[in-house]
Amino acid sequence: MAPTANSGWLEGDVALITGGASGLGRAVALRYLAEGASVAVMDRDRGRLDAVVSAAGEHVDRVLPVPGDVRSPDDLHAAVASAVDRFGKLDILVPNAGIWDYHRSVTRLTGHELAAAFDEIFAVNVKGYLLAVEAAWRELVATRGSIIMTLSNSSFHTNGGGPVYTASKHACLGLVREFAYELAPKVRVNGVACGGMRTQLRGPESLGLEGRSIADSFARSEAAGERPHVPLYDAGVEPEDFTGTYVLLASRRNSSNITGAVVPVDGGIAVRGFRTSAGGADL
Ligand SMILES: NC(=O)c1ccc[n+]([C@@H]2O[C@H](COP(=O)([O-])OP(=O)(O)OC[C@H]3O[C@@H](n4cnc5c(N)ncnc54)[C@H](O)[C@@H]3O)[C@@H](O)[C@H]2O)c1
Repeated sequence: MAPTANSGWLEGDVALITGGASGLGRAVALRYLAEGASVAVMDRDRGRLDAVVSAAGEHVDRVLPVPGDVRSPDDLHAAVASAVDRFGKLDILVPNAGIWDYHRSVTRLTGHELAAAFDEIFAVNVKGYLLAVEAAWRELVATRGSIIMTLSNSSFHTNGGGPVYTASKHACLGLVREFAYELAPKVRVNGVACGGMRTQLRGPESLGLEGRSIADSFARSEAAGERPHVPLYDAGVEPEDFTGTYVLLASRRNSSNITGAVVPVDGGIAVRGFRTSAGGADL
């Protein structure tokens, strides 16, 4: 279909986003709606799912809230079936639901705590992505669709979390690459490696950190006058500032030959060099 001047980049597409009731997933859901897609939003938080539907405004007919837990294969199959029942097909899957480990170092945890945190974080962050792809690949093959996984600076670099979170996000990089290989040429699989942003990202229940959010860490850093040690230190850190790459990678018109790629959207962590000041020149 030839694009018109007014059409969105995802006009007529259908997406399923896990963890789409808050933070980044919610921002991607609202952006996809604005780009013309219909969006099924899966999340375990029913209250926030209702809030996404309210936020959809004029696009409310194109949003479908689906309660469920990404650790459950049955819940994910039900989410895919609901999206296809309601909208007729599935073009885009965004595995995104995740939890953080609050930078808990190996030096601060007992073996039992590490074991429990590993099981919980890997179950959500890694198994949740794996099972989402298993539930969706048949529909994505049918539409020659694509998968965009939320990765992290912790998929490449240290100290974006502790060892459990960093290992989980490195594992997700492996999933992008393996699925890009396995599902070619019918389904493209890419990732967005996000830097820090102000969301409600929670810690594991097994460490008693489910009530804290990364937004608290941002508030503390801001109160202390700290700024990110990245070249683009004044780039936006709201979830909406990260959504453009999700649109680009989902768009057949604009990225039909991209698979197995990960776009770092992190303010330039990879080129920050040895300076402690942010820029290469005093700009
Ligand atoms: N916030 C950051 O700084 C940052 C940086 C890089 C990557 N990320 C990644 O972004 C993704 C989204 O996180 P966010 O920052 O928007 O956090 P968030 O907590 O605001 O949103 C995550 C959503 O996932 C849902 N969720 C968690 N576990 C679930 C489960 N088992 N089943 C179903 N839903 C579940 C939560 O209810 C929540 O709505 C995560 O994969 C995270 O690792 C976040």
